[in-house]
Amino acid sequence: MGMLRGYVVQVILIAWISGSLADQILLPAPENISMVSINMKHFLHWDPVMVAGNVTYSVQSQGEFESQYMNHTWHKASNCQKISAHQCNVTDEVFASVMYKFQVRAILGNQQSAWAELEPPFNRKTTILTPPKLNLQVSGLNLVAQIEDYGSHFQFYVFYWQKGKEDDIFQRRVIKPSTSFTSTFLGEVKQGKEYCAEVIAHARPINRNSSSSDTVCVQVDEQSGLFTGLLCVFGVVLALAPMVFACWKATTVMQYICCPNEEIPDALKELYVGERMLKNCDSGKDNTEEIYSVELHEHILSWGNSSHVAKLQRL
Ligand SMILES: *[C@@H]1O[C@H](CO)[C@@H](O)[C@H](O)[C@H]1NC(C)=O
Ligand SMILES: *[C@@H]1O[C@H](CO)[C@@H](O)[C@H](O)[C@H]1NC(C)=O
Ligand SMILES: *[C@@H]1O[C@H](CO)[C@@H](O)[C@H](O)[C@H]1NC(C)=O
Ligand SMILES: *[C@@H]1O[C@H](CO)[C@@H](O)[C@H](O)[C@H]1NC(C)=O
Repeated sequence: MGMLRGYVVQVILIAWISGSLADQILLPAPENISMVSINMKHFLHWDPVMVAGNVTYSVQSQGEFESQYMNHTWHKASNCQKISAHQCNVTDEVFASVMYKFQVRAILGNQQSAWAELEPPFNRKTTILTPPKLNLQVSGLNLVAQIEDYGSHFQFYVFYWQKGKEDDIFQRRVIKPSTSFTSTFLGEVKQGKEYCAEVIAHARPINRNSSSSDTVCVQVDEQSGLFTGLLCVFGVVLALAPMVFACWKATTVMQYICCPNEEIPDALKELYVGERMLKNCDSGKDNTEEIYSVELHEHILSWGNSSHVAKLQRL
């Protein structure tokens, strides 16, 4: 009886082991594993496993540090576990310019394929650098560049010049610390001229440059600057309005402190300081008069000293 039971257990065990072995063998490992790395963004690709069913894939990575000091432990690539796609963004797995091993396996139900490894291992130094897209704009009389966002690993060298003056090339080093920073001021431009620019991307961690972008040009029209100039003036006036109001308020208050309701002696009136004080005192008394006297004051000042006196009498 005991022998029979042992036999049955043995048979079941053998069936189970061979079954699971068959599962492993049935599900082939992914093939043709490759890394596509462009502008420090790394994507692991593999050919899909051609079996019926919903096959998924999982990816692991191992940097030089793990293979040398961490007993060859593998790290599960985040966002690359049990995925249906046969490629995965492994950018976040690579954070040093050393060799990284990658392996991927297929999963179908309870079955898992063997691991298939990327050969040779990947080093981000081999990333392909492409020139960024560049857009030039004129804002008022300012030349503004918009550079494609490449992430925090990059800075950019922008070269710009006035068309026809190619000997005079200006260079700007642009560091874009965040994605929100898209426009960069390059320099001032002249009305009616054409300006051109090119850009080179520089990957800081690997100290390599992309090739130069296509040349992009922009024409500054004759009216440019005038409109913005007007806008500026309008803006300044708007911004100053509360200040002027505050000053007027302060003047009114000051009047009670420093300008008693008495006649100012003639001797004081001769002095510029006295004159200003007088003006301030007057302005405190009546708003409409304030405007009037300020206008008169400036108007007459430009005539010279003789009318200066006349003006004081007028006030
Ligand atoms: C491997 O994949 C690349 C592109 O992903 C393809 O061009 C190439 O033909 C594939 N090689 C094999 C042997 O399947
Ligand atoms: C296949 O598996 C993926 C991941 O588990 C799941 O999102 C998807 O719905 C499945 N598709 C089918 C047809 O079962
Ligand atoms: C890949 O991952 C990196 C890092 O998380 C991210 O910056 C980048 O936008 C991703 N690329 C795509 C195409 O999803
Ligand atoms: C990248 O280009 C800039 C601008 O031309 C240059 O100053 C720098 O030396 C270059 N760096 C490398 C590593 O080639």
